[in-house]
Amino acid sequence: MRIVVLVSGTGSNLQAVIDSVAAGDLDVEIAAVGADRPGTYGVERSAAAGIPTFVVDFKDYADRSDWNTALTKAVAAYDPDVVVSSGFMRIVSAGFIDAFGGKYLNTHPALLPAFPGAHGVRDAMAYGVKVTGCTVHWADAGVDTGPIIAQEAVSIEDSDTEETLHERIKVVERRLLVSTLASLAAAS
Ligand code: GRF
Repeated sequence: MRIVVLVSGTGSNLQAVIDSVAAGDLDVEIAAVGADRPGTYGVERSAAAGIPTFVVDFKDYADRSDWNTALTKAVAAYDPDVVVSSGFMRIVSAGFIDAFGGKYLNTHPALLPAFPGAHGVRDAMAYGVKVTGCTVHWADAGVDTGPIIAQEAVSIEDSDTEETLHERIKVVERRLLVSTLASLAAAS
């Protein structure tokens, strides 16, 4: 199973995938890693691991539609079976998702459909829920919507800050992403 991983930031979830593949625990080929802006650590660490990388900088395009077209072309060049949004902080078009047969996997640091959007951890804390978690799902063109594949709960402690809670969620999120990819690869 060939995957292309999209990142916007540090790519620690991506690193878990890279490590699992390197250890022989995950039978997928990371065909490429792409970002929506230059200078991400996610791209840097992929290049260091010898993985092809690309950037389709949102700022280089006149509008979202042009950017979506360019992103679709860049990803399609690697002919992926599954595209993974791993901390990719842009909404892609329905056309992008269709181009990859709907196989656009997303991870989110909350128990969807609760707390979608860019601040899922902060919003859960602000609401005062005692349990949050993470979700791996097939993404559609909405904001963190689409069929759920796997979820796991994480308790919120009184002493938590957004950072400490997000770090605990990410430990679970990495495991869930890797195990979901392993299941998909086994079924492919
Ligand atoms: C993850 O929690 C992801 O779900 C969220 O941002 C975080 C990305 O972390 N959208 P990283 O870039 O994989 O370290």
